[in-house]
Amino acid sequence: MAKKDLSRANRILPEHIGIIMDGNGRWAKKRGLPRPAGHRAGAKNFRTITRYCNSIGIKYLTVYAFSTENWRRPVEEVNALMKLFREYLEEALRDFREENIRTRFIGDVTAFSPDLQALIKETEELSSDKTGLTLNIAMNYGGRTELCRAVNQLIASGKNEVKEQDISNALYTATQPDPDLIIRPSGEYRSSNFLLWQSAYSEYVFMNDILWPDFTTEDLEKAIDEYCGRNRRYGGL
Ligand code: FPP
Repeated sequence: MAKKDLSRANRILPEHIGIIMDGNGRWAKKRGLPRPAGHRAGAKNFRTITRYCNSIGIKYLTVYAFSTENWRRPVEEVNALMKLFREYLEEALRDFREENIRTRFIGDVTAFSPDLQALIKETEELSSDKTGLTLNIAMNYGGRTELCRAVNQLIASGKNEVKEQDISNALYTATQPDPDLIIRPSGEYRSSNFLLWQSAYSEYVFMNDILWPDFTTEDLEKAIDEYCGRNRRYGGL
């Protein structure tokens, strides 16, 4: 087989990257700070990494911001996260006009407060004509819930036989390519219900010596390098 050209100038970038932004709590604990301080640092870093992905030509980025299971956390932590989402969306509405990033939300956003839902809708509408990176923010998202929702939609549409493509088309990510690369920092080696159907052939890069708030653009480059060096076979030879 021809040797892959892994130089950064010549590599073929992943079209779609997923990130499980893990380790905010531990980052805060290490510094003697309350957990929400870790989420705040994580949100700041999310902005940096999103902008960087857009600048290098990544087409789709999906970040796991709040899972269907995260409601089980103490109410103070959930409230702190909601406050962060609100602040971020207000900032996005202010600053994203200059950025060529289309923002979408995946997950059941009807569970959020009416003001947060209004901000979500406005952000999606105002960025819908952007042609650069498509950013999917997974909020109140769970892969299993997404699959049940898709199946229920298909039942309601009267289908008595379902093909794989029908399910893909009924997911929040319909029309988008499946993630090529999923990155999880912080030393946890699991998918945590993230993009279950879509990740069937994703390449995972687990980075165990880094917590999300410390994850740099160089760490992202290292994950992309590792992805580029992999041989994707999709079950074939
Ligand atoms: C997991 O770390 C992280 C979360 C549950 C929240 C992720 C949210 C952000 C980074 C904020 C994103 C903001 C926007 C606006 C999209 P953890 O709390 O489970 O960390 P731990 O495992 O160290 O406790």
